Amino acid sequence: MTFKTIIEPFKIHSVAPIRMTTPQERERLIEQAGYNLFSLRSDDVLIDLLTDSGTGAMSRNQWAAIQHGDESYAGSPSWEIFRNAVQNLFPFKHVIPTHQGRAAEKILFTAIGGSGKVIANNTHFDTTRANIEYTGAEAVDLVIPEGLEPASRHPFKGNMDLIALEKFINTRGVENIPAVMITITNNSGGGQPVSLENIRAVSAICKKYGLPFFLDACRFAENAWFIREREVGQGDRDVVDIIREIASLADGMTMSAKKDPLGNIGGWLAMNDDELAVNCRNLLILTEGFPTYGGLAGRDLEALAVGLTEIVSHDYLKYRIESTAYLGNALAKAGISVVQPIGGHAVYIDARALLPHIPPLQYPGQALAVALYKVGGIRGCEIGTVMFGRKPDGSEEPSAMDLVRLAIPRRTYTQSHIDYVIEVCIEVAKNAAQLRGYRIAVEPAALRHFTSVFAPL
Ligand code: F0G
Repeated sequence: MTFKTIIEPFKIHSVAPIRMTTPQERERLIEQAGYNLFSLRSDDVLIDLLTDSGTGAMSRNQWAAIQHGDESYAGSPSWEIFRNAVQNLFPFKHVIPTHQGRAAEKILFTAIGGSGKVIANNTHFDTTRANIEYTGAEAVDLVIPEGLEPASRHPFKGNMDLIALEKFINTRGVENIPAVMITITNNSGGGQPVSLENIRAVSAICKKYGLPFFLDACRFAENAWFIREREVGQGDRDVVDIIREIASLADGMTMSAKKDPLGNIGGWLAMNDDELAVNCRNLLILTEGFPTYGGLAGRDLEALAVGLTEIVSHDYLKYRIESTAYLGNALAKAGISVVQPIGGHAVYIDARALLPHIPPLQYPGQALAVALYKVGGIRGCEIGTVMFGRKPDGSEEPSAMDLVRLAIPRRTYTQSHIDYVIEVCIEVAKNAAQLRGYRIAVEPAALRHFTSVFAPL
């Protein structure tokens, strides 16, 4: 007998209160926040699905490991515990700890970027793209065409377009390409996985042209679980084995430990190349710290080492992927179009489909995200024209999709929280025709989604 209820494979050990608010209060709070959900106080949010980054609950073993942290400036045993845990899954020669993923990106692209250079990825995450462009280099996205079609059911919509990649290499020239990257899972493309077959093929193309191949591996365990579930011939493998194979195909990685490593803070950069590692460690010392702690306290390194052992549990990953699908499938069943198949860490509502009367340059994703907050106190995140519409030359264009991401923090919310989210989404969708677009009243020079002030149209 198998039961259909997906139980959380943990019990609650310590709790944080949720402060209840009314729709009237939220109407006022979001206006005060300039209709930007990043400007809200989290106390004013009921269910916070802004991000799955650093927002997960640590286990009792992680909290116990915090007590074991050694805060020595150099050569801390906590560093060795962390490095061993990383290399157990990703056996790269050099591991360089950073305070989060973007710090690893900043260091890597400072070392290998610069004007005239171009980096390919399935889809660059926003900080990855911004760090590349900041050095004067160019970031090119080469995801397969299905990856840009919200309704396509391709099982690995995060895959790199291999023909486009070879064409890119031949037209741009090997000498101008310091690295090829692949993001697992493809966050900006809907949390969609990349197949092992595709990673093998990208690796082979990079080898053929002598190009370094880097992973942006934030959600590596979720990606490995999808490979196990969906890829022919992978169903009997342990996810640890799949993860090690992925690592063996690459020359290095950038990592945010705020996702699958179950940390509240942390990241790393890893690679096999000795010379690049020396260069990156020197940059690390300028802004992050000594190479045995990076931007982290010894206690954080210890918590991450434990998180890396917990994230590869099959019971956990099965629950994680099924519970995210539970939310996505319920919305789809109610007629709300969501990116299909449901991704690993989040459900992405297709705001352009739900609000066809709001043109992309009036930000349908923003309109939907604000409505979810007003109606139900839910905080999601626009991933669309607000986030990607402003081009480096100053022009503005609709992004490929206008989505609202409901990202699920790890081990944080229960099924009843998610049932409430479903109800709120259905209520907002019922009144979708009444929603209006927004304009940007105040816009910063870069990464505008974080701090822009919006005004309703
Ligand atoms: N790469 C990917 C694929 C990410 O999703 C993120 C962060 C980063 C790099 C940067 O890592 O935040 O530790 O500096 N994503 C978060 C999100 C912020 O909400 O999706 P970071």
